[in-house]
Amino acid sequence: MATPAKPVPPFLEKTRNSAEMYEEASETMPGGVTANIKHFEPYPLFMESAGGAKLYDVDGNEYIDYNLCYGALMLGHGNSRVIRAVKEQLDQMGTPVFGTPHALESAVAKKLVQLYPGIETTRFTNSGLEATMLAIRLATGWTGRRKIAKFEGHYHGGYDQVLISVTPEEREQDVPPRSSVDSLGVPDYYRDNTVVLPFNDWQQTEAILEKHRHELGAVILEPVQAGFIPPDIEFLKKLRECTLLYGIPLIFDEVKTGFRLGLSGAQGRYGVIPDLTALGKVLGGGFPVGAVGGRQEIMEICSPNRRSDILSFGGQDTGKNGGSDVLFHSGTYNGHPTVLSAGLATINALEETGVYDRVEQAACRLRQEMEQILCDFGLCGRTVGVGTIFNLVLSDTPIREVQDLLRSDLHLRKKLDTALLERGIYVKPGNRFSLSVAHTEDVLAETLERFEGGVRQLIRK
Ligand SMILES: Cc1ncc(COP(=O)(O)O)c(C=O)c1O
Repeated sequence: MATPAKPVPPFLEKTRNSAEMYEEASETMPGGVTANIKHFEPYPLFMESAGGAKLYDVDGNEYIDYNLCYGALMLGHGNSRVIRAVKEQLDQMGTPVFGTPHALESAVAKKLVQLYPGIETTRFTNSGLEATMLAIRLATGWTGRRKIAKFEGHYHGGYDQVLISVTPEEREQDVPPRSSVDSLGVPDYYRDNTVVLPFNDWQQTEAILEKHRHELGAVILEPVQAGFIPPDIEFLKKLRECTLLYGIPLIFDEVKTGFRLGLSGAQGRYGVIPDLTALGKVLGGGFPVGAVGGRQEIMEICSPNRRSDILSFGGQDTGKNGGSDVLFHSGTYNGHPTVLSAGLATINALEETGVYDRVEQAACRLRQEMEQILCDFGLCGRTVGVGTIFNLVLSDTPIREVQDLLRSDLHLRKKLDTALLERGIYVKPGNRFSLSVAHTEDVLAETLERFEGGVRQLIRK
């Protein structure tokens, strides 16, 4: 007698086309993805179209999107103002890119200078990664010191200098964090020249900074860890005072918080002003972007007017280091007109009265009701977040830094996320929830119904 076929789990049953496309993609791309963040088990879902708060996959399933391209889409998918701006840029300028200066660069730069208290002048890049990389180079170039300090669990992009202690091992609270390399291929040099600090723990942070004060060229942090663990305001203020005292440039990596915690990011919200700021995500309105801004005297060291830099041709004033007296910053696509037109349209839309209040209130309501549902089903969990972003953490202890997250029930969270995907809530497993202006009351009501179904399914299993 033939053995009865095993029932196919609902996720696999509903997403057969994604499974097929994943297999095909794996033949030509390692792991079937072009960014490791897009991968999850058993395979990532392939999307076909989107609109507002919704994503539609290649199997015809609809999802309410809480990933929003890792928080970038503060106006939701396909916002009409952004689409119009992009079309107009292409029509009116007649080309996607000039390869020369153009008016949109100054228009967006002016906005950043007006909105961000820590930005006196700015430069554009093509990603958040490039923005933090330039900020660190500016800080270390300015001070002439090569070591940097970063915080355990903080992500600043995928390059050697900052792929350090992003995913640390568990440690006891009174043991200081260690510098450890997060990727194959990162030279030990970076481990040895990075000082790792514990977020929201001033006592240890102060002691470590004191010890390394003469060798540090920069302190970089996500003012809100991973976009959802809020800082103690006193901690941020003390960090600012201490770095000023020691003459170490403080970099706020506002790639997640910029235009999320309000128009002026975390620095506007908390009233703590860094020397340099890195922006990305929302600023591009769905297109790849980054920006660095800061104190003029620091920013100015990348000006090609100072002396000749490595791209100068036939200049008389060769720098004393063979042309390296200027801090190098360049990029074929920096200040791309299409990207900046989308960015400007996004900023203009966000500047309208009440936008942030509405999205924050929606996030607040969603958080309260999700917590209630978890509690009704006897699950030990809470939401952690600030503003329009939060995460769901299955733990009964306060979450103040990455070590607290490591101690939460990550296994159960993964199962919950699969149940949510099956019910039409798109969250990248383990990742945070981001909201947009497209997450209206109706969308929230639908979300909560699906969420309750997902939690019920999890409990039944
Ligand atoms: C805080 C932070 N910094 C830097 C980056 C890197 O940005 P990008 O992915 O645009 O290179 C990210 C991306 O998630 C981020 O969250």
